[in-house]
Amino acid sequence: MKMSRRGFLAASAGAAAVTLTSCGQEAKPAQAGELLRSKAKLPAPFQLPLPIPPVKKPIRSDAKADYYRVVQRKASLEILPGLKTEVMGYDGLFPGPTFDVRSGRTTVVEQVNELDVSTVVHLHGGHTPAPSDGWPLDFIMPTSGEHGDHHMMGGGDMTMGRRTYTYPNTQRAATLWYHDHTMDYTGPQVYRGLFGLHLIRDDEEDNLPFPNGDREIPLVIADRAFDADGSFLYPAAKDGPGVESAYMEGVVADVTLVNGAPWPVHEVDAVRYRFRILNASNARRYELAFSNGPAEFVQIGSDGGLLDVPVEHQTIVIAPAERFDVIVDFSQYQPGDEVTLVNKLDNNANVMRFKVARKAVDESNIPARLSSYAVTPRPTGVVRREWRFRRGGDHSGWTINGKAFDPAVMQAQVKLDQYEIWTFVTDVHHPVHVHLAPFQVLSRGGKAKLAEFDHGWKDTVDIRPAEVVEVLVKFTAHKGKYLIHCHNLEHEDMAMMAAFETI
Ligand code: C2O
Ligand code: CU
Repeated sequence: MKMSRRGFLAASAGAAAVTLTSCGQEAKPAQAGELLRSKAKLPAPFQLPLPIPPVKKPIRSDAKADYYRVVQRKASLEILPGLKTEVMGYDGLFPGPTFDVRSGRTTVVEQVNELDVSTVVHLHGGHTPAPSDGWPLDFIMPTSGEHGDHHMMGGGDMTMGRRTYTYPNTQRAATLWYHDHTMDYTGPQVYRGLFGLHLIRDDEEDNLPFPNGDREIPLVIADRAFDADGSFLYPAAKDGPGVESAYMEGVVADVTLVNGAPWPVHEVDAVRYRFRILNASNARRYELAFSNGPAEFVQIGSDGGLLDVPVEHQTIVIAPAERFDVIVDFSQYQPGDEVTLVNKLDNNANVMRFKVARKAVDESNIPARLSSYAVTPRPTGVVRREWRFRRGGDHSGWTINGKAFDPAVMQAQVKLDQYEIWTFVTDVHHPVHVHLAPFQVLSRGGKAKLAEFDHGWKDTVDIRPAEVVEVLVKFTAHKGKYLIHCHNLEHEDMAMMAAFETI
C-alpha cells in the first residue's frame, strides 16, 4: 500500500481556512471539503416518517450467548420518493438492523457476504478480541464457494463467503455501532449502507427512570448525495482507492438522512424522549440545535455509556462516529407545535422535525447522579505516546506520525492493564478513534477543564485544527493487533490509520 497510488493535486493545507463551495458561498470552516450535490429531484423536508431500524432477532440462544446471521447484500430501496437506490446493506437494510444485547452476554454474528466486493465488519466501541475486531485485511471474500475456509494472505485472515464474529460485550451499557472496515474502501462501502447500531444494556442503566419503549429512539444521521436515477453519488478516484482530489478533505453531501430517510418527521407526545444520536456520516460534523422553543439536550451518555452526572447543552457538536445519548423534554410545547432539529454548522440546514401531537403522562426522570464510574485522575509516571494526524508531505494522502497506513508496521506495542497518556495533534480537523478501549479526555488545547463535549468515556474524539488533546487510556484482556485512525472515512481510506499491538 503506497501513497503514490493516488494522484492528488498538491492542494494547500487549506482545509483549516475558509473554503469556497461551487456556488461561491462561504462554507463553514468547520466543515470538510467540497459539497457533493445531488442531481436527483429531492423531496421537500419533513414529509417522510422517521424509520426505526428493526431489532435483529437471534437464530438461537444458549446459556451464555445469542447467535445471529446477517446477510450483506444489495437491495433496491426507495430512499427518495419515486426513485430506487441500490444499497449495500446488512440484511439489505439502510441502516442495518439494530443489535440490542446485554452486557456480559456474548453476541455471535455470522456475516454472510453476498455482495460483489470484499468486506470486513468492525464493532465500533467494542471490547472485542482481535480476531473479531475487523482487521482491515481480514476480508470476507465475495464468493459462494468454500464457505468459511480461512486463508492467510497478505497479512490478513481471509475467509470465503462468510465469517463469524464473536463479541463478548464485556463492557458497560453503551450505544455502539458496527460498520464496514475494508482497507482502502471503508468510505464508499459505509456510504452505500454497511452500518448499523449495536446497543448494549445493563442493570445499572435499566434501573434508571429514563424514557423507554417508543420514547427511546435512535437517530442515525448520515449525509448522502444522489444521482438523477436515484443511485448514490460518490466521487471515487478513477484509479484505485480514495476519492477525487476535490473531495480529499472528506465527502460532505447535500441530503441529510436520519435512520435512512431524508429530513424525516416524527410525531411525539409532549413528554421526555431519549435519543441515541450517532453521526454515521463519512466526513460531516453537525452542530445540532432546535430551531424554536425551549428544547435543549440533556446529555446522559457518551460513546462509552452513561456519564456520571447529566450535562445540559443548547447545541451538540458531533463529529463522525461520535455518539451522544440525550434526553429532550417536549413538555413545554403545545399539541400542534413543530420543533425542527437543524445543523448550525451548515446555516441551520434541516435535519429532521418533531411534531408535538398530544399531552401525555410522563413517568420518566433524569436523576442527578447517573453512574458510579470514576473520573480517573491524571496518573504520573505512565507511558506517553504522541500521535500526529497530518496531511502527507507529498500531498497525496493523510498520515499518522508521518506514515501512511501499513498493516505490516506496528506503530506501538502497548502493555495491557496499564494506563497510558496518548496525545493527539492535528493539522486540520480530525475525529480520532481508538479500537479496543475507551478513553477519558484529560486536556484539550492545554486546558484541563473538560470541554463541553468531552465528558465521559469516549472512543472517538474530535480534534480541531492545530489542536492538542490528551487522553487517558488503558487496554485490557485482549492481545493482538488493533487500530487507531481518523474517522473521517476519506482520510482513513487515504491512509490515516496506524496499527498498534497490545502485549
Ligand atoms: Cu468506526 Cu476503526 O472504526
Ligand atoms: Cu482526518
